[in-house]
Amino acid sequence: MLPTIKWDKDRVILIDQRRLPEEEVYVECTEYNQVADAIEKMVIRGAPAIGVAASFGVALGLMKVQGTENLDKEFDRILSRFERTRPTARNLFWALERMKATFTENCSLNLPQLKQRLIKEALAIEEEDIETNKKIGFWGRELIRDGQTILTHCNAGALATAGYGTALGVVRAAFHEGKNIKVYVDETRPFLQGARLTCWELDKDNIPVILITDNMAGHFMQRGMISMVITGADRIARNGDTANKIGTYMVSVLAKEHNLPFYVAAPLNTIDFDLVDGSKILIEERNAQEVRKIEGQYITLPHVEVRNPAFDVTPAKYISAIVTEKGIALPPFEKSLAELKTQ
Ligand code: MRU
Repeated sequence: MLPTIKWDKDRVILIDQRRLPEEEVYVECTEYNQVADAIEKMVIRGAPAIGVAASFGVALGLMKVQGTENLDKEFDRILSRFERTRPTARNLFWALERMKATFTENCSLNLPQLKQRLIKEALAIEEEDIETNKKIGFWGRELIRDGQTILTHCNAGALATAGYGTALGVVRAAFHEGKNIKVYVDETRPFLQGARLTCWELDKDNIPVILITDNMAGHFMQRGMISMVITGADRIARNGDTANKIGTYMVSVLAKEHNLPFYVAAPLNTIDFDLVDGSKILIEERNAQEVRKIEGQYITLPHVEVRNPAFDVTPAKYISAIVTEKGIALPPFEKSLAELKTQ
């Protein structure tokens, strides 16, 4: 299993995803602000991985607190630093809410005990995420038939989670039960998560992979070379509308046009049951330089106006099924997701 993130006594260790695949280097965080910076700067990215990293960051922040004076305020300051890192991933806020609840429920403990309790909770969030992904893989593998070719967008693999992955977890599970499959990977401009991370992960697992640029997907669908699409998600509204990496919407429309199933794989903690539909999902807009440059080199005029939304919303009508750890939700999602939640 790939080491995305690790808690090591009083440090959080992250593989630096900005440097992959050229180098496998690790970033060590000894202060909570360093973990928050790492999330903002995409050292670590992917909705579930961000949630796990933030949980460890909160535990790290509390560890450094010396006395109990203003403890509530200090804890809220730590939480709000993480809340400001990346707005779209529901998993981040879910993890912070869980850490906050643990803090509140245990504030009668003395400070050293409270610190240990928060570390334990963050470790539980990490462990549960891996288990959840394996369950997503278990349910989802049946959607993939022997001989099929799968298209994926961005990276929803071990690197985007505590381990195993969501969409790539489904691919892994199908591959490991002996299915002969091939994965087409969109490069995923501007951050190139597909080219840099998904190809690296699949190649390490010896899963056949073909890299394409984002504008090639329609061509290969038209030629009958893609059997299905599977992606991860950053936030899913209760009607099934799904925010995921920019470009996902375009792929879903293409899949519809070519009568191909379009699947989303995500843990239930990605679902925002308070949101009626996807129109209210806050879409992060990132730095313009990510679009103007590739690998540090300008590919356009340095002053050209740029838009850089990091995510888009795929309407539920384009989604054939949502694979969760409790099973597969089919349309209408309002009903099927609510049923899975209460199971
Ligand atoms: O900007 P990123 O790299 O954090 O975006 C990641 C994605 O969009 C993933 O598809 C999503 O978080 C699901 S990861 C299991």
